[in-house]
Amino acid sequence: SILIVDFGSQVTQLIARRVREAGVYSEIAPFTQAQAAFERMKPSGIILSGSPAGVPEEGSPRAPQSLFEAGVPVLGICYGQQVMSHQLGGEVKPGHETGEGGEFGRAFLTVTEECVLFDGLWKVGERHQVWMSHGDKVTRFAPGFRIVAISDGAPFAVIADDERRFYGTQFHPEVMHTPDGARLIANFVRHVCGCAGDWTMAEFRATKIKEIREQVGSGRVICGLSGGVDSAVAAVLIHEAIGHQLTCVFVDHGLMRLGEAEQVVSLFKGHYNIPLVHVDASEMFLGGLAGVTDPEAKRKFIGKAFIDLFEAEAKKIGGADFLAQGTLYPDVIESVSFTGGPSVTIKSHHNVGGLPERMNMQLVEPLRELFKDEVRALGKELGLPDVFVGRHPFPGPGLAIRIPGEVTQERCDILRKADAIYLEEIRNAGLYDAIWQAFAVLLPVRTVGVMGDYRTYDNVLALRAVTSTDGMTADIYPFEAAFLSAVATRIINEVKGINRVVYDFTSKPPGTIEWE
Ligand code: XMP
Repeated sequence: SILIVDFGSQVTQLIARRVREAGVYSEIAPFTQAQAAFERMKPSGIILSGSPAGVPEEGSPRAPQSLFEAGVPVLGICYGQQVMSHQLGGEVKPGHETGEGGEFGRAFLTVTEECVLFDGLWKVGERHQVWMSHGDKVTRFAPGFRIVAISDGAPFAVIADDERRFYGTQFHPEVMHTPDGARLIANFVRHVCGCAGDWTMAEFRATKIKEIREQVGSGRVICGLSGGVDSAVAAVLIHEAIGHQLTCVFVDHGLMRLGEAEQVVSLFKGHYNIPLVHVDASEMFLGGLAGVTDPEAKRKFIGKAFIDLFEAEAKKIGGADFLAQGTLYPDVIESVSFTGGPSVTIKSHHNVGGLPERMNMQLVEPLRELFKDEVRALGKELGLPDVFVGRHPFPGPGLAIRIPGEVTQERCDILRKADAIYLEEIRNAGLYDAIWQAFAVLLPVRTVGVMGDYRTYDNVLALRAVTSTDGMTADIYPFEAAFLSAVATRIINEVKGINRVVYDFTSKPPGTIEWE
């Protein structure tokens, strides 16, 4: 495995992905916890990330010195290269002191010497495009290193110490704009660290099943299904490990997309024969949402009602020792922030947050190490149908946060129909997998229209579609005008209650993906 030491770069997660794409397991640890992570993982190699900080700045982060004495290969990227140079006896100066500006964006380097990182890729004398983002630079490198590539703004674009197996790149190999970057990283983990590159989902599945059995023993596990991919994959995996010791509870709040609740029930009961308690609570949720228009009030009510119902069902079946959740890696990575020293931010969107303490249960979270697309791959490995596995993310509070204003049964039904038409057209156009998330929002606005000879006065529907890699930032999907116009026509013709359709052109930031 490979340990990635995080100094707070925006793109540290991309390093982990590139390593995994090379078939090698990787984990990220903040620099403050790198020592402990090293001892636990006993990795075959270490990668030091970039950082918004500067090595010459007082109080800027350092790698534990012991990592350089462990006899394990190290690759330093950008800040990682600079901090390694600094800690091993070199010198790093701020851009303004060297009298030269930094390099930001596309840059070209020239290969000056052979290096194992370039195996099968780059030859001496060649020029290659890379992505740079640095102001400071190494001005004197540490003893033992040689320069193997240079660029205009970074005389030490790539440095190597083959004896200790330490390498540094001033550019970012993990980003797409360094076209050969993924292969450079693959060369490091395979050729330098000697990793076999055979980490696969089949292997992950087998390892996890063993771990789940060890953790759970003869205990009972309960799993809340949200209708989404993550909880479904977690449940199927756990069921494979412990069979009928697992019970799934599906609290159906009536705010799902068209046909979704039925799909979940038939998948679990029919396809997998996994014990499932299906709680149809739509009346209760809609009753509680009556008159509620504030987005946070909606979210809070739904979250709390969900927990109450889940807890009640758990009691009915005699309780459980463990709670299973489909928590993913981006939710658990402790990111490094520089707004006042290292701090911990954990993004959490869990539908059942707060439950484990309240019910005195331990957590089983078999997907904690995986990214979203890896969960999808695991789902496929477990035999979940493609249409289920590939589904766009869907928020816990469901359609309630896609109906600004009051949520009623009628408005849910209108939105469900329109949303289904929109998604059907997207699938028919072959665009579904190119989009991170597409959905319709039913606005609390009525406008005048004309249909046939009649005046209409009906609701406006907004369509949204975004591309994203993790939901943290997003760009709008640039549909062809003809496509949107065809969707609008179908929706207005087929869904009673809508007479106008608009498209949302807002990226995130400044917008969020959902409207509430
Ligand atoms: P926003 O709207 O914050 O959404 O840009 C980012 C991603 O998170 C999803 N989302 C949620 N998922 N429970 C969830 O499980 C929630 O309460 C929730 N709110 C937003 C949203 O659909 C998008 O994919």
